[in-house]
Amino acid sequence: VLAALGGLTLSLNLLKFTWKCCCGFRQYVLSSLCQANLRAYGQWAVVTGATSGIGKAYATELARRGLDVVLIGRSDERLQKVAKKIENKYGRKTHTIKVDFTEGSSIYQTIAHELHDLQIGILVNNVGMICNDRFAYFLETPDPGKKITDIINCNILSVPQMTRLILPRMVLRGKGLIINISSEMGLRPHPLVALYSATKIFVINFSQCLQAEYKSEGITVQPPGLASFLGETLYWLNHLVSTALKHSTSFQKNQISDLMYCWHVGGCLSHALQSVAFSILVPDWLRMSTFFIRWLRKSLIRIEEKNGSVFSKQKVLEE
Ligand SMILES: NC(=O)c1ccc[n+]([C@@H]2O[C@H](COP(=O)([O-])OP(=O)(O)OC[C@H]3O[C@@H](n4cnc5c(N)ncnc54)[C@H](OP(=O)(O)O)[C@@H]3O)[C@@H](O)[C@H]2O)c1
Repeated sequence: VLAALGGLTLSLNLLKFTWKCCCGFRQYVLSSLCQANLRAYGQWAVVTGATSGIGKAYATELARRGLDVVLIGRSDERLQKVAKKIENKYGRKTHTIKVDFTEGSSIYQTIAHELHDLQIGILVNNVGMICNDRFAYFLETPDPGKKITDIINCNILSVPQMTRLILPRMVLRGKGLIINISSEMGLRPHPLVALYSATKIFVINFSQCLQAEYKSEGITVQPPGLASFLGETLYWLNHLVSTALKHSTSFQKNQISDLMYCWHVGGCLSHALQSVAFSILVPDWLRMSTFFIRWLRKSLIRIEEKNGSVFSKQKVLEE
């Protein structure tokens, strides 16, 4: 009996391993070989937080793949700059909407009005902010009363609000793609970035439930994990450094290709491997322990004090 049980367990594990390898092949190899026709979803893509970083990269890649793009951000000047670049380089139409997502529910009427006549096939809920520019205890959040509301309005509220504006017409047309940008920090709880980490798990859970509810209506909802431990750590050590590190065009291309092949996107192969390695090297019990949190906080302060110049904005700009 024991031998039979052992054989069965081994076979099941082998089957699971083979299945994961096939998924990995489909996601990281096949997806880069055959690109899906994104224009088939509809004429327009909407990207929130489209003036820099990941949002800008998505907007540019979607335009390259044949879609007209609605760019949403809070600076007219930066929006026009990105719009002009996309129009000149890819010959696609653009439309810009200037709003500040920290203002809460009052802005969505304006957005609804601006999007009214457009056939939107793809929505990228990218806008997001951090609450502190370094790893810190919750009580160290500067101006916490305002910051808590701002981050919840920006990272959480924007996702279902934008979705409820755009999803109904996608459902009517029987097709649509919604990409909700989450984070490695949302895949597991991360002390010292508590508020941010909590906002990102909201995005993952909301996306998974939405996907289950609407996949039969022809809608795909994806929460890319963006699982770059290195990138995210630097994101918190110094926002600008990580902006320079993580936004390679190939990363974005990979991610958009991956979308067609896998329900959960790890960003790209190296990010997915980093995520697996991180979960093995720093298991949950260790990451959540007081000892580890204190050690991490002290070490990061020491690194920042010592290598301030390495992570300085000036140095990144020079590079
Ligand atoms: N960076 C990483 O390593 C990393 C890793 C995982 C996940 N993420 C997630 O990816 C998303 C984008 O991150 P990123 O690093 O690309 O950020 P980023 O470079 O700071 O860009 C953020 C974008 O959002 C806009 N934005 C910020 N606050 C806004 C507000 N209140 N109202 C309107 N627009 C606003 C910014 O516009 P302005 O021009 O007005 O500033 C900018 O276009 C976020 O959701 C973040 O949590 C990032």
